[in-house]
Amino acid sequence: MSADRVPAPALDVDALIDDPATGIIVCCGAGGVGKTTTSAALALRAAERGRTVVVLTIDPARRLAQAMGIAELDNTPRPVEGVDPAAGGRLDAMMLDMKRTFDEVVESQASPEKARQILDNPFYQVLSSSFAGTQEYMAMEKLGQIHAAAQADDTYDLIVVDTPPSRSALDFLDAPERLSRFLDGRFIRLMLAPARGPARLMTAGLGIVTSALTRILGAQVLRDLQTFVAAIDTVFGGFRQRAQRTYALLQDERTAFLVVAAPEPDALREAAYFVERLGEDRMPFAGLVVNRASVAPAGDLSADEAAGAADRLQRSGAGVDDHAPTAGLLRLHADQVRLVERETRLRSGFAASHPHVATTVVAALAGDVHDLDGLRRVGDLLAE
Ligand SMILES: Nc1ncnc2c1ncn2[C@@H]1O[C@H](COP(=O)(O)OP(=O)(O)OP(=O)(O)O)[C@@H](O)[C@H]1O
Ligand SMILES: [Mg+2]
Repeated sequence: MSADRVPAPALDVDALIDDPATGIIVCCGAGGVGKTTTSAALALRAAERGRTVVVLTIDPARRLAQAMGIAELDNTPRPVEGVDPAAGGRLDAMMLDMKRTFDEVVESQASPEKARQILDNPFYQVLSSSFAGTQEYMAMEKLGQIHAAAQADDTYDLIVVDTPPSRSALDFLDAPERLSRFLDGRFIRLMLAPARGPARLMTAGLGIVTSALTRILGAQVLRDLQTFVAAIDTVFGGFRQRAQRTYALLQDERTAFLVVAAPEPDALREAAYFVERLGEDRMPFAGLVVNRASVAPAGDLSADEAAGAADRLQRSGAGVDDHAPTAGLLRLHADQVRLVERETRLRSGFAASHPHVATTVVAALAGDVHDLDGLRRVGDLLAE
């Protein structure tokens, strides 16, 4: 079979969302491919098919956030208005507030006094809002929280998770580890050392380091940093444990990862990397969503036939002006057919090298997806 005819096995989206054993769906993929749209569409579809769903979104486009009633950041899931309740399901949605989530972790891990010390510290404020990977880590942290709450009081039977636009693929899997490494790092240990027993032996050496740092950073900054490090050290054990628990939750067989990609060479290459990385981390991968696929034009005129007809019309001389719009349309038709053919070839190439990856293709809608009707259309296409 030639590489441009390899069919991928179909991803049965309805079977996935209807299965009561599916407890968490994570939508990941490169930036701008449609992760947020896919997450919201899946969540709405699952709710309208009877499940009790919460969708955790990250930076949804403003109009979509408004349509879902989550334009305000308050870090708690809110009911989405306008969901069809006929099947007995419902949908809550929330938009992740990264800083608020970080604060909640600190508050839950430290005494109120200690928590205040940390939250007020300038270093904490920088770390919690701009440390690389914090958003990824906090998304996973929030997932852990919602999952624990849902287990405790049966609030949701399906959690759909959107992921941040990561510069490097699957940053969110590395984030807990990276944050732990930072908090566990040599610099941090050094800052803490004077407060600890064995380190007293090296006080003289540390004195030199400290005075050098004081010169570079200034006394106040150094004091802030030391206070911060001493305080965060108390909650650090908690951070690491929670990160490990969430990682285990992601690996659970009740979790399903979907990789979203655009039908373009770079995006599909990145998707291949995602699929492989999920495999290495033993994450339960469910399938690939090829989003915003070009739609074949109506009729069965091939690209060559259309282009040929356009050439003939233009060569026919007399009445060039009359024929120009028709020739233009024929060329558009030819371009669109070629685009669809090119995407089909790309998808087949992917299927040939990843023959076990179940795939669904979602056509590009004419406009942005910014309301529940748009999400329903995407949901229909996902399940087609
Ligand atoms: N099938 C589709 N048809 C038409 N527009 C779409 C489709 N899927 C997504 N879009 C639009 O594409 C844009 C990007 O989608 P979305 O925000 O879901 O991507 P993302 O992967 O979450 O992006 P980011 O990485 O920035 O978070 C949005 O304006 C959305 O409405
Ligand atoms: Mg997004």
